Amino acid sequence: MEKLIYLDHAATSWPKPPAVGEAMMNALELAGANPGRGSHRMAVQASRVLFETRKGLATLFGIKNPNDIVFGSNTTEALNLAIQGVLRDGDHVIATMAEHNSVRRPLEFLRRQGGIEVDYVPVTSSGIMDLEKMEQMFRENTRLIVCTHSSNLLGSIMPIEEIAQLCRKYQALLLVDAAQSAGVMPVDVGRLGIDLLAFPGHKGLLGPQGTGGLYIAPELDVQPLLHGGTGSQSEAVEQPKVRPDRYEAGTPNTIGIAGLGAGVKHVLAMTPTIIYKHEWELSQHMMDGLSSIKGIQMLGPDIGQPRTGLVSFIIEGYDSAQLAFQLDRNYGIAVRSGFHCTPLAHEAAGTTATGAVRASVGYNSTHEEVDELIRAITELTVKK
Ligand code: ALA
Repeated sequence: MEKLIYLDHAATSWPKPPAVGEAMMNALELAGANPGRGSHRMAVQASRVLFETRKGLATLFGIKNPNDIVFGSNTTEALNLAIQGVLRDGDHVIATMAEHNSVRRPLEFLRRQGGIEVDYVPVTSSGIMDLEKMEQMFRENTRLIVCTHSSNLLGSIMPIEEIAQLCRKYQALLLVDAAQSAGVMPVDVGRLGIDLLAFPGHKGLLGPQGTGGLYIAPELDVQPLLHGGTGSQSEAVEQPKVRPDRYEAGTPNTIGIAGLGAGVKHVLAMTPTIIYKHEWELSQHMMDGLSSIKGIQMLGPDIGQPRTGLVSFIIEGYDSAQLAFQLDRNYGIAVRSGFHCTPLAHEAAGTTATGAVRASVGYNSTHEEVDELIRAITELTVKK
């Protein structure tokens, strides 16, 4: 492959640590049986692969019982399981304007069915949420708060601990979308007071695509999204109560989960604190360099403020899709452009008409790569 500067980690991390591919090949060859179905040695080995990954995730997220983590194919599936599994007709939900469509669409689907009511807490143009405004939205029937940990367009970080305190005060549940935070900053469900945590396997956790999961607090009975074979209690008509089987009907993605386990090990060895510091420094370097481009407007928190490792921007007189296309074709730099599946965040940022270019760094990004991005954009905008 020609030289590629990959600055699209917020969409999916790349390249993965070599151990991820190795773990997948090993699982395919040595643990390729169906986990939980049958008791022969390779089936047991496959079950072990799943459990080892669950254990790694439990360590990473401060979860006592690994079986409170259930696997699915991505964050979207995890969010759908939580939202559809918790909410009942008559419930009220509070979400924020920073949510991704993977939260907004399932909520709006349930609202259109006539069952639930939803309010979205405004965020500033930088993606900062007002806790007081959130508190004013609580009602008698508020059952669930859904909040992204970090905006996928703006990089802003939400005050999860304070939101959890509000949830306890008003006896509501807290579902956190960790699509942009898992693996790239410390996430401890006990310390933060999170009831449900949806996470992707393929972004900051460095696993392959098609992996993700949901943490469900031990005392919560969430209705399953899928009903079917679990390899356990086969005689029962109903889905078993025991976790994780209750939520994992059908043959799982054992090979992918093996890769995810290796990704999580890599994150645990680097530590999310160090990864956050590395990505934050790169984002600051990027903002500093981009600030000298004529007509640029960078989105999200100001320089010096907390943010995850992504910087979105628009440049007056330049189409964001065209700019991203030229970065790819002429400079070998991969960024995301256009609309980022988060219409209300675009509305808050004032980019509904323009979309935005988003450059996002990862665990393996370097200052030199960021320099190349700044050089390329400078050249492209001067050339026009
Ligand atoms: N949700 C992912 C993103 O923001 C795919 O790019």
